[in-house]
Amino acid sequence: MKVELNNISKVYKMGDSSVHALKGVDIIVKSGEFLSIMGPSGSGKTTLLNMIGALDRPTSGTVLIGGTDITNMAESGRSRLRLNRFGFIFQQFYLLPALNAFQNVHLPIKESRKFGHGGRKKARELLELVGVSEREKHLPSQMSGGEQQRVAIARALANDPPIILADEPTGELDTENSRHIMDILRDLNKNMGKTIMIVTHDPEVARRSKRTIKMKDGQIIK
Ligand SMILES: Nc1ncnc2c1ncn2[C@@H]1O[C@H](COP(=O)(O)OP(=O)(O)OP(=O)(O)O)[C@@H](O)[C@H]1O
Ligand SMILES: [Mg+2]
Repeated sequence: MKVELNNISKVYKMGDSSVHALKGVDIIVKSGEFLSIMGPSGSGKTTLLNMIGALDRPTSGTVLIGGTDITNMAESGRSRLRLNRFGFIFQQFYLLPALNAFQNVHLPIKESRKFGHGGRKKARELLELVGVSEREKHLPSQMSGGEQQRVAIARALANDPPIILADEPTGELDTENSRHIMDILRDLNKNMGKTIMIVTHDPEVARRSKRTIKMKDGQIIK
């Protein structure tokens, strides 16, 4: 599914001061593209993903997802998009602390009702895919950072979304697990045609994507 950003700006107002986090960003990501985003801390990478994934609205400019302008869409429609169109892997994993690994992955599957009676099986398959089946009954507080990250990745894949937005998805992982996760993402891109946008500081991860954009001070510089 195609992603199109037209002249996106985002200003965060904080009392008297304001932060210009994005300054007129234009990007077209074709359906089935695998794009990485690099840039220093504070350059606007997470803000950019939040605009695309309908988690926040730009101050000006438009966001089109699969050709539909979602910028001024009502919140109910945007929430449906988040559940069915996007898989989010957040920089902070945001797993629900009172739910175990299985329940965290099963929750969005249950909400969408997409897999009917096969929902529990689907959740188990996803935990297996990212290699944390043995932790299915563990709460987030009972798992390592890397294990939580892999559960968060399984959850992002829950409803088979056409677009995956990943913010430093390998940040907590060692080289071996990082390669494994990149292999999974590459496979989803290559064999299932998923559109993937991945924020990373790791040149090795960026090298494995098809195109890299560099951000600085809220703009794309390359
Ligand atoms: N909710 C917010 N309210 C006010 N300012 C914010 C908010 N979120 C982000 N900012 C500011 O906007 C700028 C861009 O932040 P953003 O989180 O997009 O950076 P980033 O490129 O993801 O950085 P990092 O690599 O550290 O994650 C920063 O200066 C940040 O302080
Ligand atoms: Mg960030």
